[in-house]
Formats: sequence, C-alpha cells, structure tokens
Amino acid sequence: MIEARGVSKFYGQEICALQDLNLVIGKGEFVFLTGPSGAGKSTLLRLLLLQECPTEGDLIVGGRNLARLSPTETQAYRRTVGFVFQDFKLIPTKTVFDNVTFVMRVLGVPVEQQRKRTYQALKWVGLQHRLNAFPLELSGGEQQRVAIARALVNEPHLVLADEPTGNLDADLSRDIMTLFRDMNAQGTTVLVATHDRELIRSVDRRTLYLEHGKLVDRP
Ligand SMILES: Nc1ncnc2c1ncn2[C@@H]1O[C@H](COP(=O)(O)OP(=O)(O)O)[C@@H](O)[C@H]1O
Ligand SMILES: [Mg+2]
Repeated sequence: MIEARGVSKFYGQEICALQDLNLVIGKGEFVFLTGPSGAGKSTLLRLLLLQECPTEGDLIVGGRNLARLSPTETQAYRRTVGFVFQDFKLIPTKTVFDNVTFVMRVLGVPVEQQRKRTYQALKWVGLQHRLNAFPLELSGGEQQRVAIARALVNEPHLVLADEPTGNLDADLSRDIMTLFRDMNAQGTTVLVATHDRELIRSVDRRTLYLEHGKLVDRP
C-alpha cells in the first residue's frame, strides 16, 4: 500500500528531517510510527498527504508514485486518504454535523449521501446525539471522535494519524485506538504516528522506529 524508496527530506541546507528512508506497509496493515520528538514522524505523514514533496526518493501509494500525479489525480488521491491530527483541526464556527459533512460538500457528493454518511460516521464514533453542538461545547475526547468521523466519512483506503491521542488521557486514548482498530478490521490501512509507548504497548502492532530521520531497530 505504502512504499518509500530512498526518501529524504531536507529543510534548507542544515536540517535533515528524513534520511534515505526505505519501508513497505502492506494493504490492510496497522502500523505505528514512533521515535523521539523531531525524529521525522510528522514529516513522513506530510509527505504522504502531499502537503510537501520529498527532496529525494519516491513515495509509492497504492501503486502510484506520488511525485507523478497530475493535479486531478492528486485531488482523487487525497480523497482516498483520511487524516487525524493531535489538535483535531475542527472548524469552531461549524456544528459537529457540518464539520463532518464539509469535505463531502466541497467534493460535490449528493446531499442525501452526505447526510446518510455523516449520520453513519457520527453514530460509529458514538456522537449521533451531538450533531448540533459546536466543537467548543465538546470534551477533548469527543472533539477527537468528531475528527475521526470526519476522516472516515469518505471511506478512505488509508488513514494517517499524527499523535491522535496527544491531548487525551489514557482512557480516552484507548477509546480512540479502538476506533482505529475497528477501521482497520474493515480493511483500511492505518498508520499512526505517536511517541506514546504505553499506547503502542496496549495495541501490539508492527512498530517502525524513527531516530534523526532514519529507521532504526527497536531501541
Ligand atoms: N517546515 C519546517 N522547516 C524547518 N524544519 C522543519 C520543518 N518541519 C519540520 N522540521 C524539522 O524536521 C525535523 C523533524 O520534524 P518532525 O517531522 O516534526 O518530527 P516529529 O514529528 O517526529 O516530532 C525536526 O528537526 C524539525 O525541527
Ligand atoms: Mg510530530
């Protein structure tokens, strides 16, 4: 599903965020990406989201080289990827329902479909009763569940999560990981970047360790 071939990312001359990275993540896998702060975890996710380009090397996702996508293909690709961030990135002036529907509206999904998929996604994360609430009226864990509903409403093939439990306590973190595991059980490939060792231990999946932009064996 994901293959990195000799991927490096430099910021200016000095900072090497990723250094000759080679990895393969299979379709339907659930993989953790971990390592200390500054190791390059977020950088790899940004490259996979096409928010930035590698300085060197190739990223291949679903058999496509991301560097060779046309603008139309790039848009189509982004639709197949769901992403969840630590700080949720919900739109504060929109309701829960609108936050989840928003992307589908932008993509021109028919209104009935939009409604149906939004209800389903919110039901799945257990927030169907908070459709009309605004993000700031929700707890941190609830906000993150909205962000997850938003990530999965497009039925992505791949979910990328960057420190998705970073702002949550241990119990809520477990709930969030259960959602990712359920998603994975339905065939979605999941890549979770986290520095939380406890979380990784509790889920027991393949773990990639990054240090100074390089993959290392278990430290
Ligand atoms: N936009 C940027 N400009 C300059 N340096 C950056 C930028 N983004 C990340 N870095 C640097 O790249 C390295 C990896 O960062 P990051 O991928 O955020 O690490 P992690 O997510 O593992 O904490 C760090 O040294 C960071 O300071
Ligand atoms: Mg990071």
